Amino acid sequence: MAGRLRDKVALVCGAGSIGPGWGNGKATAAAFAREGAKVFAVDLNQDAAEETVEIIRGEGNEARAHAANVSDEGAVAVMVAACQAAYGRVDILHNNVGISGRGGPIETTLAQWERVLRINVTSMFLTCQAVLPLFLEQGGGAIVNVSSLSAVKAIRPELAYATSKGAVNALTINIAMEFAGRNIRCNAVVPGLMNTPMVANALKDLGDAGGMAAVMASRDVMSPTGTMGESWDVANAAVFLASDEAKYINGMLLHVDAGLQHNITAGNG
Ligand SMILES: NC(=O)c1ccc[n+]([C@@H]2O[C@H](COP(=O)([O-])OP(=O)(O)OC[C@H]3O[C@@H](n4cnc5c(N)ncnc54)[C@H](O)[C@@H]3O)[C@@H](O)[C@H]2O)c1
Repeated sequence: MAGRLRDKVALVCGAGSIGPGWGNGKATAAAFAREGAKVFAVDLNQDAAEETVEIIRGEGNEARAHAANVSDEGAVAVMVAACQAAYGRVDILHNNVGISGRGGPIETTLAQWERVLRINVTSMFLTCQAVLPLFLEQGGGAIVNVSSLSAVKAIRPELAYATSKGAVNALTINIAMEFAGRNIRCNAVVPGLMNTPMVANALKDLGDAGGMAAVMASRDVMSPTGTMGESWDVANAAVFLASDEAKYINGMLLHVDAGLQHNITAGNG
């Protein structure tokens, strides 16, 4: 079913992928475009944004790449202005940017804590703050934030990451309620255990590349279905929340975790 986002302009933050394959943001950008949206694909990594745009254009759809650090207020203002200059408006803001951050309260340094909070949640505050006045002028819009099951399940020591995603949930709900009467919706996708390049990258950063296969297998086992989810599961949920089909859905934290939130032995999303 194509055309669910026809005539909409989607500003996708974190539209690249940290490694080869399909990350959540890259898949979402492509899925938005397949449904007819014009995609303004933003990433810190210019090459990653351009790769996504190339794929979208290769499928006969419309996208432009833009490099920006969405945790920088000035860069966010430039990004939103560039999207308006390119496409004249913004209808959908998709906040996918997020980095992992392992460690509990004793071993996490203040610098690590501030970096994870800045990139994972301050960025969303800044992008929402920049886009909401446009939504008000235009008479509506939809925001989709990417959270994590870690916001609600303490699974392993990753205090900064979990706290940042808890804040993403709160930010989502509060924006949703403030603007509900003005045709602006704000929802979040809450992924569980997904098989994306970000996971392999986090393990590599931990110097755990050798144990990768075992970790991936254990993530499959922890999943209620026996298999991790994929980026397209996140992307499909985001398409729905961004579309007019979800016009009466607001402040929703939509878990894409095969029900893992209900499992007493929840895994590491
Ligand atoms: N993969 C999982 O299992 C999983 C589970 C739960 C939640 N998530 C969430 O999904 C989101 C990321 O998914 P992904 O697969 O697209 O990850 P990814 O790391 O492949 O892609 C994220 C992109 O964001 C970009 N980025 C990083 N910092 C940026 C910044 N400051 N400004 C602009 N761009 C920046 C990166 O360059 C990268 O291309 C995160 O919010 C993450 O917390 C993932």
